[in-house]
Amino acid sequence: MQPKLICVGNTTLDRVWLIDRLPSGGGKFPAHDYLELGGGMAANAAVAVARLGGACAYWGRAGDDSAGRVMLAEMAAYGVDVSQFRLIPDARSSVSGIMVGGDGERMIVNFRGEGLDTDPGWLPMAQIPGCDALHGDVRWPEAAALCFAAARMHRIPTVLDGEIASAEVFGMLLPLVDHAIFSEPGLRAFAGGATDSDEARLTALRRVRSLGCRVAAVTRGREGVLWIDEAGVHRQTAFAVEVVDTTGAGDVFHGAYALAIAEGSMVDVAMRFASAVSALKCTGKGGRAAIPTRERTLQFIREREGAGPAPAP
Ligand SMILES: Nc1ncnc2c1ncn2[C@@H]1O[C@H](COP(=O)(O)OP(=O)(O)OP(=O)(O)O)[C@@H](O)[C@H]1O
Ligand SMILES: [Mg+2]
Repeated sequence: MQPKLICVGNTTLDRVWLIDRLPSGGGKFPAHDYLELGGGMAANAAVAVARLGGACAYWGRAGDDSAGRVMLAEMAAYGVDVSQFRLIPDARSSVSGIMVGGDGERMIVNFRGEGLDTDPGWLPMAQIPGCDALHGDVRWPEAAALCFAAARMHRIPTVLDGEIASAEVFGMLLPLVDHAIFSEPGLRAFAGGATDSDEARLTALRRVRSLGCRVAAVTRGREGVLWIDEAGVHRQTAFAVEVVDTTGAGDVFHGAYALAIAEGSMVDVAMRFASAVSALKCTGKGGRAAIPTRERTLQFIREREGAGPAPAP
């Protein structure tokens, strides 16, 4: 049976101009390429789940503008259920303008959007008992809190993308979520100070668990993942790959992890699966185009871990 997931939260559009050199002042500059790429934590996670063979719905909103329509069409083309992706009249989407120079240097300007309602009252909560896992992010905390609370009532596992957020947002979401997986900047924001040693990371993660999360984790890019659960402290090293672009690695990690949890995988198996998916994603351009299939991921894990069968998430 195909697992069913819901990803609720942020979607944003990256408009990318590839140019020879980043300008140091005003003027006109020719671009040799141009890309429009959907991004955002929950949106990328939803695309990852669909690409890996799960049935995934994205719950979120954007403006009823050109960026919103591009994001919706792209997500639908990846096979995500977009029936709860609302384009709000008179609101404006979150958009980034990105200029990339020939040396890979980037200039990013983000507009967070305008007029996007925060009230999640329109979300079809009756669908939550029918899903196998729910993923939320910190950019639409009112919706994530509502959905996490409903999922907990129905014993459906929940996963939070712990990116940078205020103490108020963490205080609202962490007591409601089962698996809180932070990025390094997100954990630092939660801790309210430096978390650059394992001791400091573990202190912060223990605090996260004391709020009620079963699993508290931090992803550390090429340094892998560190987490604690009821059995203690664990690590998963990152898979070494030829990195082309790490955009969205964290978002994709969360989607793959939530899918494995939806399928009933143990936490260490889910962490390994998500690490392999996100490492493979880094071998191609963009946040979505290089997300591997499940078959490719399992083959990759088998190649890296020797002849034994990979535990199938
Ligand atoms: N250079 C890399 N090589 C191999 N795996 C990587 C690399 N970068 C990221 N990953 C994998 O992706 C996971 C998530 O990456 P990271 O910790 O950078 O997320 P993040 O900080 O949330 O980034 P973002 O949200 O911008 O994608 C890592 O734990 C690792 O498994
Ligand atoms: Mg992230």
